[in-house]
Amino acid sequence: MSDNIIKTPPHLPLIAPSIIAADFARLGLEVRDVENAGADLLHVDVMDGHFVPNLTLGPDTVAALTKCTGLMQDVHLMVTDPEKYAPLFIQAGAKHITFHIEVAPGQRGLDLIKRLHDLDVTVGVSLNPATPTTTLGPLLEAVDLVLVMSVNPGFTGQSFMPEVLDKVRWLRNELSPQQRLQIDGGIGIRTAHQALDAGADILVAGAAIFRNPERAATIRLLRGDYPK
Ligand code: DX5
Ligand code: ZN
Repeated sequence: MSDNIIKTPPHLPLIAPSIIAADFARLGLEVRDVENAGADLLHVDVMDGHFVPNLTLGPDTVAALTKCTGLMQDVHLMVTDPEKYAPLFIQAGAKHITFHIEVAPGQRGLDLIKRLHDLDVTVGVSLNPATPTTTLGPLLEAVDLVLVMSVNPGFTGQSFMPEVLDKVRWLRNELSPQQRLQIDGGIGIRTAHQALDAGADILVAGAAIFRNPERAATIRLLRGDYPK
């Protein structure tokens, strides 16, 4: 897992552009553009039309992107059957897989985490805005990353839900320094700093980056590279 930025200390804030907001007619060029603009990893939203009311992409897209970028692909599985699909995305080149606690809590989630760690990738678990942190249970210690959703998943360009920041603060306190805390949904310059201040250290941003011509400056500002 040497080339996995999620595992690599020190845990500085990382910016993960979400390709859901990219121009899919030019996806390879868009990914190269955000890589050149300073992105740290690539957030790939996989939606199955069941767990969320939208459909996006499959392993073939990850395989194609593996050929055109050096960015590590952070695959966010918003699907009801992560056991079936996670290995296919790993075979295609994904180095990180996040599944949702709502579909695989308890022993099912622990079994999935072990199986994916055996495939030499890092593993995250995600909570929708309405899902309490109490649902994590034993998974909290088993994962490399927790992803707090700050929108109801399904679409880019939604408004940030500030009420999830309490979850971020609680999780930062519970997680070890080696575990990552990621936030996804409605992240822009203002909300990024609220999320970083609450303890998040990986920011997913779709519209804020891909819908903005000044991508390098935006990535720097999201990361907090601004005169204090
Ligand atoms: C769930 C997706 C989106 C996406 C980020 O809908 O996971 O949250 O990554 O999209 P923005 O940053 O445009 O909200
Ligand atoms: Zn996502």
